[in-house]
Amino acid sequence: MSLPVVERRKELIPVKGLKRYGTYKLAPSGRVASQSALGQHHINTIPYGAADSVRLRTVMAAHAQQISYEDLYERWEHGHWRATGIDFSVDKEQWAALPQLERDAALWNYSLFFHGEDIVATDLAPFIDAAPLEEQRYFLATQQVDEARHAVFFKRFMHEVVGNGDGSIRSSLAATEPLLTWGFRKTFEKLDEITGRLRKDRSKLALARAVFMYHLIVEATLAQPGQHFIESYLVERDLLPGFREGMRNIALDEQRHIAFGVKLLHDLHQQEPRVPEAIADLMREVMPYSVTLFIPPNWDRRYVETFGFTLEDIYEEGARSLEQKLRAAGMPLETLPGPIPFPPDLSPRERGELGLAMAEAGILGDGTRPVAPSTPELMALLFDQMRRAVDHRAAPGHPVVLQWDFKDAEPWHLRVDNGATRAEPGVAADADLTLKVSYRDWVDVIGRRADPLRLMATGRLRPKGSLRTLVLMRRLFPS
Ligand SMILES: [Fe+2]
Ligand SMILES: [Fe+2]
Repeated sequence: MSLPVVERRKELIPVKGLKRYGTYKLAPSGRVASQSALGQHHINTIPYGAADSVRLRTVMAAHAQQISYEDLYERWEHGHWRATGIDFSVDKEQWAALPQLERDAALWNYSLFFHGEDIVATDLAPFIDAAPLEEQRYFLATQQVDEARHAVFFKRFMHEVVGNGDGSIRSSLAATEPLLTWGFRKTFEKLDEITGRLRKDRSKLALARAVFMYHLIVEATLAQPGQHFIESYLVERDLLPGFREGMRNIALDEQRHIAFGVKLLHDLHQQEPRVPEAIADLMREVMPYSVTLFIPPNWDRRYVETFGFTLEDIYEEGARSLEQKLRAAGMPLETLPGPIPFPPDLSPRERGELGLAMAEAGILGDGTRPVAPSTPELMALLFDQMRRAVDHRAAPGHPVVLQWDFKDAEPWHLRVDNGATRAEPGVAADADLTLKVSYRDWVDVIGRRADPLRLMATGRLRPKGSLRTLVLMRRLFPS
């Protein structure tokens, strides 16, 4: 039977059945409406007379050079607000009257933000020491104040409206800690690790890595779409006026932080040519975890949909945001070296859907979700991702064929040749290396839950063929 070859997606298509793993479809017409529901809502609901903030966003979308550190600092002086001055009395009444599902869903979502704000408030200190210019350090000091203010705001909401904790930040954090997702924990562990390293290594390269992780991944890709989502439905439904006011202020603060991060990353790149390589490496490392950060408990999509959006809308927004910020920083996604887990040839919507599809099929994630059966469609998706993960800089000057001989699934192979890789089902007659492994174990390797070396040591992964190709594999798949 001839199966669809995904890398030729423009001609062969569609791979039916992928719907089961989300709405990701490999169809030529799969470029879903360019304006996401989320984006539309957000554009329609900027009611804050925030012309200044719109201008900032426009400038940042164009280029980081057009804004100065002094200007960003000045915006901070003009943007003061008081987390302790917000009136939550109406919120308290409305919260008690919300249906249980909406309370559960909102509490889950707000808990991710609360913990995120608490962590970023402390993780910012080494940036201040490492930033080369006074103007950068002063802005970073203002940002640290902002992050603390954001955490205080969430703590007040958790304590005064939800009734969590005894009034201390620690107790509210402890009460909401069980709601954090695996993807959240892994992503913020990584942030802690990178900022911890920055305490010892204050080089421009280390600073660029930290800025990319903090300002572009955590703030721009993961947090900003969530803020827009929350703001949009609260405005639309005229709910939780105190919380809404705080979220509006937080979103404006974050916009300034992200603008600073983009500018700093741009400026560091001017002085340190290794920045694109460093951030591409980091993206390869962190994306498999970050993709699952916003997966609701038990994959209950109602946690998002009850507020009028889909997970795909929010993931699309994240993908679009990262693309824009990288472009503004002078390092467009498509120019980053090596394989990019956020394929630039896909639209932001498709990138978001792809990440969700991988998570929904149990490929990405903590391993507790049952892995979906190895249908031809899922195998096509899996091998398309493997094809995209090949680093052609490590490829030798001749073709290399890698064969997977699964014990419990159809065989597939990758053909690496002349700067491109093709993924095809079936057995290749000219395989340089054949890997005998179970489908389930290989899915764990892709999801970073299993180490291929350990699988080999325990006999669960058996390579056959060229030893040189086996050694080469580690360089072909750098992440
Ligand atoms: Fe914040
Ligand atoms: Fe921030």
